[in-house]
Amino acid sequence: GLPRRVRIHEVGARDGLQNEKAIVPVEVKAEFVRRLAAAGLTTIEATSFVHPKWVPQLADAEQLMPLLAGLGDAPETGGAGLRLPVLVPNERGLDRALALGVREVAVFGSATESFAKANLNRTVDEALAMFAPVVAKAADAGVHVRGYLSMCFGDPWEGPVPIERVADVSRRLLDLGCDELSLGDTIGVATPGHVTALLTALNEAGVPTERIGVHFHDTYGQALANTLAALQHGVTTVDASAGGLGGCPYAKSATGNLATEDLVWMLHGLGIETGVDLGQLTDTSVWMADQLGRPSPSRTVRALSHK
Ligand code: HMG
Ligand code: MG
Repeated sequence: GLPRRVRIHEVGARDGLQNEKAIVPVEVKAEFVRRLAAAGLTTIEATSFVHPKWVPQLADAEQLMPLLAGLGDAPETGGAGLRLPVLVPNERGLDRALALGVREVAVFGSATESFAKANLNRTVDEALAMFAPVVAKAADAGVHVRGYLSMCFGDPWEGPVPIERVADVSRRLLDLGCDELSLGDTIGVATPGHVTALLTALNEAGVPTERIGVHFHDTYGQALANTLAALQHGVTTVDASAGGLGGCPYAKSATGNLATEDLVWMLHGLGIETGVDLGQLTDTSVWMADQLGRPSPSRTVRALSHK
C-alpha cells in the first residue's frame, strides 16, 4: 500500500540554485525560503557550506542563514520550527554552519569513484574518511545528519552503477552515524524497476526503509514514476525542487530535480497528505522564475499558472 503522508525535502534553494547560471541576490533567496515555508513546506534545504570557488552560486551562506533565523527557531521561542538543513563536505564546512546555529546538516558521498573525484576531489574511501569526524562532531552537538549518496543508478563517466556498490556505500554512511540517507539519481537515468531492485537490496544489506529518502532528477522524465515505485516500497521522504529549478546551467529550461509541484499534484491525487498549498507553491515558483528570467520547466506550474 501507499503511505498516508509524505515529507517533502525541498531542495530548490540549494540543488536548484546551485545549478542556475544566474547568481541570485541573498535577499531574494531569503524571500524564496520564506515563501516556500508559507506554502507549507517544513524541510527546506537552504544552502551549502562548501568552497566558494566550487559553487559560487551559494557563496553567500554566511549572509543567508541569519536572514532565516526566525524561521528555524523553535515554536516555543516564537519561530516557525522549520527544518533548514545545509550541506557540509568537511569539518571546515560544519564549523561554519555550527557557528551560525544550524541544527541540521548533510554530507554528500558518491557511489562512484569518478563523481567522488569530480565533486569532492577525493576517492570514495577518502570522502568517507573526511565525513567521519563531521558526523561525529555533529552528533555531539545534537545536530541531525543526512547522508546523500550520488550516482545511485548511473554515472556519466562509468555508466550503470552496480546495486551492490550502492548498498555498500549506503551501509558505510549509516555506520558513520548518519540519521538518514538520500539516494540520488544525479543524472536522472533511473527507471522504476531499478528503484525497486535497489531498495530491496538496501533492505537486505541492513538499511531500513524508514531511513531512506529518494532524490530524483527528471532528465529522462522518469522522476514521478520512480517516486511512485519508492512509495510502493514504503519510502515516505521525497526530495523535490520548487518549479523544477536547476538542471543544466547552459540549456534553457532544461529539467533538473523532480519539480515539487509535479510531486504534490501526484501525491494529492493519490490522497497522500503533504501539508503543502499547491496554489501558493505555484505562485512562489512563478515569482522565482521571474527573478531568474526563465520560465519554470514544471508541467504542473505551467498548467496551473496558465489557467
Ligand atoms: P579541495 O580543493 O580538495 O579542498 O576541495 P582542500 O580540503 O584541499 O582545501 C583547499 C582550500 O579550501 C583550503 O583553503 C580550505 O580551507 C578551503 P586554503 O588553505 O587553500 O586557503 N576549504 C573550504 N573553504 C570554505 N568552506 C569549506 C572548505 N573546505 C575547504 N567547507 C572540497 C574539497 C570538499 C572543499 C571541495 O571539493 C568542495 O567544496 N566541493 C563541493 C562540491 C559541491 O558542493 N557539489 C554540489 C553538492 S552535491 C550534489 O549536488 C548532489 C546531490 O544533490 C545529490 C544528487 O543529486 O546526487 C546532493
Ligand atoms: Mg541533486
